[in-house]
Amino acid sequence: MTYDVVVVGAGAAGLMCAIHAGYAGRRVLVVDHANKAGKKILMSGGGRCNFTNLATTPKHFSSANPHFCISALQRYRPDNFVELVERHGVDYVEKAPGQLFCATSAKDILGVLLTECEWAGVEIRLGTAIERVERVGESMRVATTSGCVDCGSVVVATGGLSIPTMGATGWGYDIARQFGVAVSATRPGLVPFTLSDQWKARAAELSGLSLPVAVACGGKSFSEPMLFTHRGLSGPAMLQISSVWQPGDSLTINLLPETAVFDALCQARRDTPKRQFSTWLGERFPKRFAQSLLAWYEGREEGERLLAHFSNAMLEKWAERLNHWQLRPAGTEGWRTAEVTLGGVDTDAISSRTFAVKALPQLHFIGEVLDVTGELGGFNFQWAWASGAACGQAV
Ligand code: FDA
Repeated sequence: MTYDVVVVGAGAAGLMCAIHAGYAGRRVLVVDHANKAGKKILMSGGGRCNFTNLATTPKHFSSANPHFCISALQRYRPDNFVELVERHGVDYVEKAPGQLFCATSAKDILGVLLTECEWAGVEIRLGTAIERVERVGESMRVATTSGCVDCGSVVVATGGLSIPTMGATGWGYDIARQFGVAVSATRPGLVPFTLSDQWKARAAELSGLSLPVAVACGGKSFSEPMLFTHRGLSGPAMLQISSVWQPGDSLTINLLPETAVFDALCQARRDTPKRQFSTWLGERFPKRFAQSLLAWYEGREEGERLLAHFSNAMLEKWAERLNHWQLRPAGTEGWRTAEVTLGGVDTDAISSRTFAVKALPQLHFIGEVLDVTGELGGFNFQWAWASGAACGQAV
């Protein structure tokens, strides 16, 4: 069988690429080893798919080459995807500033993509593994478990390594290496932290509790909620900072980001000297957390102490704990729960306009398999749409 384009991976980027190539008149085949297209789309955003972020700019992405993503993001913008979604009558909501989610179900987004594939004449073969990809003269040959296919271009859209149970594989990286394209070290991103020893037990006791915090590490900081879990820390603040964190790093967590705690405590000592410290804490934190803080540090009696009896040094100690809480995670939950893969196919080898390998224009890489990773909030899908559209128009 002969096609113009074979796209490997029926995920967000692969389907978008296929749609654009199909509308450009190309004969397109999409192959996926999974039994269902777009599994990650379906599980994303808690089943409601945070399909874009209206504030998308290149600064929301990390890559060894921060300029690589600019061209595609400029050519296919969040508005373009919103227009597509609206054309199909999908209801959506802005859950947080700029973050658009389906009002009902992520199935709606997959439905849009599969309908567009049908209209664009794209053929999709699921449950089909790839055995080999080789160059044959100016063409490419793809050996699949359902036969050999010759084509003008192969597009690798196999995503990253997160959630292997959803079909993630390192196949895209193997193909890159096979054709001489470098792959930078990969690690899980947007992933919850694990804690060890006493901190693990303490987090477990508070499991389910969420606090608005500002967390800093490696020169970056995020102001978002933090969630205690049975294994450690999660929530948007922790997922975001996990993409910057390196093993061994400590996190600096500001538990009262709106308050300069030392000044506030001095003021409280002046204005209300007969109040107990636990009352001051209880006005600012959920009771469970305020009690835990006292138990972890000075003990319950400290809470019963009147503010008038706190020295400056004691207030400074609490200010340090509350504004600069230091915690060293034991690790992360890893690929099992990570939302994305940091690192991947080296973009230096790839054209940022066509997504072709510069030394082999018949081979393309798009989406998460590339060393381009977005922050939390719909940026990763916007990258999948933008890189898929740019490549689909070029193949
Ligand atoms: P994607 O992973 O979507 O697709 C890759 C496809 O390739 C899969 O269908 C897979 O089966 C197939 N494949 C892999 N290996 C293969 C092989 N050897 N042969 C054939 N096929 C193969 N992002 C965001 O912007 N908003 C959100 O709300 C979320 N939420 C979210 C939740 C969870 C739990 C996860 C894990 C991830 C998210 N993300 C997200 C991230 C987002 O899902 C991700 O960045 C995109 O799906 C990446 O799109 P790709 O098309 O590159 O890969």
